[in-house]
Parts: sequence; structure tokens; C-alpha cells
Amino acid sequence: MITQAAVTEDRNFDDIAHKFAKNIYGSDKGEIRQVIVWEDLQQLLTAVAGSENGLDILDAGGGLAQMSQKLAQLGHRITLCDLSSEMLQLAQQDIANNGLLEQYRFVHSPVQSIEQHLTKQVDVVLFHAVMEWLADPRPALETVLNQVKPGGMASVMFYNHHGLVYKNVVCGNIPHVLEGMPHRKRFKLQPQKGLKPEQVYQWIEQAGFTICGKSGIRCFSDYIGDRQYMGDYQPEDVLALERQLCRQEPYLSLGRYIHVWAQKKDKQD
Ligand SMILES: C[S@@+](CC[C@H](N)C(=O)[O-])C[C@H]1O[C@@H](n2cnc3c(N)ncnc32)[C@H](O)[C@@H]1O
Repeated sequence: MITQAAVTEDRNFDDIAHKFAKNIYGSDKGEIRQVIVWEDLQQLLTAVAGSENGLDILDAGGGLAQMSQKLAQLGHRITLCDLSSEMLQLAQQDIANNGLLEQYRFVHSPVQSIEQHLTKQVDVVLFHAVMEWLADPRPALETVLNQVKPGGMASVMFYNHHGLVYKNVVCGNIPHVLEGMPHRKRFKLQPQKGLKPEQVYQWIEQAGFTICGKSGIRCFSDYIGDRQYMGDYQPEDVLALERQLCRQEPYLSLGRYIHVWAQKKDKQD
């Protein structure tokens, strides 16, 4: 049998769905990401026209749908697409527990063929933490961006190459950096590669979008060591620091992830 994963060579999360759910969410790391991206999304929502009647939103490679559920709570309609049926099942359970099933449609498909499952373009797409798991991220991003109607918005988050370099250096993995950071199989929950932000910004602009905002996700937290005495601060101070500085350089470009949001130009622009 040829599986979808074999066809695309992308990283289907079927075998790590439960582990992913346990490790990533509910941690300080997850909290920083949720807070920063949610601040951006609130701005994004004010910039999309017509949100009074509820927006059509595509959560592409949406996994457990953590962020899109916050949007569903505001009354928006979500199409959740993922390559992994295991992730979709876990998401469906959580969405049901939160009483949001009516606002969701579930699509088990690679994002590369999402067009077959949509009858019209959407107001907003979320494409978070997926590109770094793909064999060929650019065409997938373009397909996702194609689903946005003129004037609509894209929210794209990706694993940052520069943050990965810096993290490796801070951890003393200097030979690994000098060797070009070849993929190491033992870190199953770590993406194979980071994307260069300047390249992703270019892809987004070349797809007919204007970039509205960018944030670094975990620009500081991941570089703080765990020696015995690190100074006097609390986890909430780290979050406050991230919120204060994550949208300005040079910190933004050192985020472990980068969130960028952009508006599709009208045809006449
Ligand atoms: C790191 S998770 C991110 C999930 C979610 N977007 C988030 O931000 O929490 C990556 C997800 O992308 C999915 N995925 C990988 N390749 C895909 C593809 N070609 N099409 C659709 N989903 C894909 C995986 O199954 C997994 O659920």
C-alpha cells in the first residue's frame, strides 16, 4: 500500500501524535508561543473585513488545533486539514470536549491537495509549524496561500534556521553547526531543518501578499541556561521579556520560531 506520507515524504505525525500532545502543550514553551501568536492574531482579525458574520478559516497542517479553537470560540468556522489521522482524531476529541464541533470540518489530506476539499477561498489561513516538516516547503506554502481570498490574511509560523544555529552554539554543539547541522534522527520531536526567514518572507511577498507583522517566538527563553544560580526572576518575567522585545530586531530574528502575518493584495493593487 502506498501511504500519503510515502507519496509526499512529509512528516506524518501518526506515530508521535500522543507524545507531541504531551510534550509540546501545557509547557512554558507552549505558553509563550500561545500568548505571542494570539496577540498577533487579534491584530490580524481587526484587519480582515467582514468578521462580524464569522470568518472562514483554514487551519492547514493544524494538528491538535490549539490555536484555531480559540478562533472557533469567537464564532469563526474552521476547516482543519492534516496528513495524520491520529492527530485529527486527537483534535476531534479535544474540540468535542470544548463544545466546538459544529464549527469544524475535518479534512484528512496533505495540504498540497487542499484545494480539492474547499469550495471557495477562505478569509484566513493558519499554517503553523508545518513547513519545517515538509520535503519541499515552498510549493506547499504557495498552495495554502492560494486558498486566501483577496484582502484575506495568512498567519504563517516556521522553525527558524537562525534560532537553531544560535541554540546549538549556546549548547556547545559547535562542530555540529560547522558541519551544517545535518539531521539527527534521535530527536523525533525536533524538525529536520529550519527555514531562513528572509526566504520565507520573499515567498510570501511573491505570492501576492503584503507582510503586516512579524514576531519571534521564544527569542530568549530557550537560550537561558539551567545553572544553579541564574539570577532572580520568575517564569512570568521571561514571558514579559518575550512580549516586550519579540517584535523588534535583533531579537525577532533569533526566535526559535517566527510568526509572520500578511494580507493578500486585491487584484487591482
Ligand atoms: C508540529 S505539528 C503543528 C501542528 C499545528 N499546526 C500547531 O501549530 O500546533 C505539524 C503537523 O503537520 C502535519 N503535516 C505534516 N506534513 C503535512 C502535509 N503535507 N499536509 C498536512 N499536514 C501535514 C503533521 O501531521 C502535524 O500534525
